[in-house]
Amino acid sequence: MNELLTSIVPSPVRIQRAGDGFPLDQATPLDAPADLTEVAIWLRGSLGPATGCPLPPGSGGIRLRVDPGLPDEGYALGIRPTGVDIHGGSAAGVFYGAQTLRQLLPPATLRRGRLAGGRWTLPGGRIEDAPRFGWRGVMLDVARHFMPVADVLRLIDLLAFHKLNVLHLHLTDDQGWRLEVPGRPRLTSVGAWRPATMVGSRQHERYDARPHGGFYSDDDLREIVAFAAARHITVVPEVDMPGHMQAAIAAYPELGNGFAGPVRSSWGISTHVLNLGPEALDFCLAVLDHLCDLFPGELIGIGGDECPAEEWRDSPIAQARIRSEGLVGPERLQAWFTARLAEHLAARGRRLFGWDEILAGGAPPGAVIAAWRGVGPAAHAARAGHAVVSCPDTSVYLDYRQSDDPAEPTPVGTLLTLADVHAFDPVPPGLTPEQAGRILGGQANLWTEHMESARRVDYQAFPRLCAFAETVWGPAERDFAAFSTRLATHLTRLDALGVNYRPLSGPRPWDARPDAPGHPRTVKDRLAELREMTADLDQAPA
Ligand code: ACM
Repeated sequence: MNELLTSIVPSPVRIQRAGDGFPLDQATPLDAPADLTEVAIWLRGSLGPATGCPLPPGSGGIRLRVDPGLPDEGYALGIRPTGVDIHGGSAAGVFYGAQTLRQLLPPATLRRGRLAGGRWTLPGGRIEDAPRFGWRGVMLDVARHFMPVADVLRLIDLLAFHKLNVLHLHLTDDQGWRLEVPGRPRLTSVGAWRPATMVGSRQHERYDARPHGGFYSDDDLREIVAFAAARHITVVPEVDMPGHMQAAIAAYPELGNGFAGPVRSSWGISTHVLNLGPEALDFCLAVLDHLCDLFPGELIGIGGDECPAEEWRDSPIAQARIRSEGLVGPERLQAWFTARLAEHLAARGRRLFGWDEILAGGAPPGAVIAAWRGVGPAAHAARAGHAVVSCPDTSVYLDYRQSDDPAEPTPVGTLLTLADVHAFDPVPPGLTPEQAGRILGGQANLWTEHMESARRVDYQAFPRLCAFAETVWGPAERDFAAFSTRLATHLTRLDALGVNYRPLSGPRPWDARPDAPGHPRTVKDRLAELREMTADLDQAPA
């Protein structure tokens, strides 16, 4: 079989080789109905620059069609000497068929400069394909290190190339606030900037002396949303509350419990959290309103992870709220708050998306849970009736080190090799079929404490994200050896796309960060820590 037909990533469900291929040249027309105009625009923009094939409108050549008989995001791609047919169950399905088509051309055609020659042959055959999961996500933390819009758009293109369909944007944290909110100018004039940045992992207490910051204008975010939508990616925004809020409190100290200081320069979890009095609640609801205005997707992220309750014990404002709501203690305050956010979002026709800490005390009905603290919370959430996005740190936290090579940059977390990621199954063991049906899919998370640039994000993400794509697109049974064979060709595609992936042989010299030491963990230590961290779920409703 043609090597390109057998090296597609993520692997298609069914591939048949059949006869001669299709010659693609400057005269090849693109035949697309009006409802596939966006796909046609994108395909011309993708294939045109390197191949010089403008794909003028016309009949024959490459035909795009929606066929409602196919699975929603599925497609059938047929290549014969007389033409190419890309049929999809929806525009998204056609788009994925077209993405597969790109992988059937020589990798050099993924470059953006014109190549010599003007004729390429697409291998003859038929591919039938559809994803296993509807949520094939990546979280990008733009709070710890701000990522300029152009770099976000480039990452979106790379996600779409791997048939991923959700970009969860972690927009705020203790170390930076990255979006404008009407009437709150200090969020961006103060909250988006920190005076210095911790270098390497926490215990080394090293800092640079360089201010860091940045934020997205409303137009920037609209551009990101539209660019993603044209690639069938939904952007799910997250503003993390009520913890991870030091940047907002640095801008508006009245939202906190007495803290008056700068945006946080060190990693780890700030104890400075929202006071959850009337002004802080109004602030949060206004932020959610703004997110609803900018992001059309159903889900709005409220974070909810890692919120220390200690400031609430001595805070008059928090204590007043605890009394007025009849809560039994500070620990119940977060569940009360999350319920208010869920009601507000529901009134706007939206749904709350939060980290698995919101399960403590019972998450609001209808909340979608991003289950990250090992595999336990995904099972707990599914049993409690919630829709779940599986993103256990022990399988898909791509900030974790890729090998034990001493040259690995800032090694943190547990060892998470390419094979480990490829072995990930979003459905945790022990669920009934009904509970397993609540697992929407999986998500790889890119926390950027140690990724100060798009180049470093590339390094941590790839090629592990190629393996991840197989776990959420492809079947539950997977063959790592076969993936590795396909990956050899796929890496030449990443070369053509200019991705600074981690070579399988180890880090390149310029990827090393001897100045930024890490803190590797063993799986045994991490599992013990996770058991302790999630012990409160044993008491939570399931
Ligand atoms: C998280 O990793 N704190 C969600």
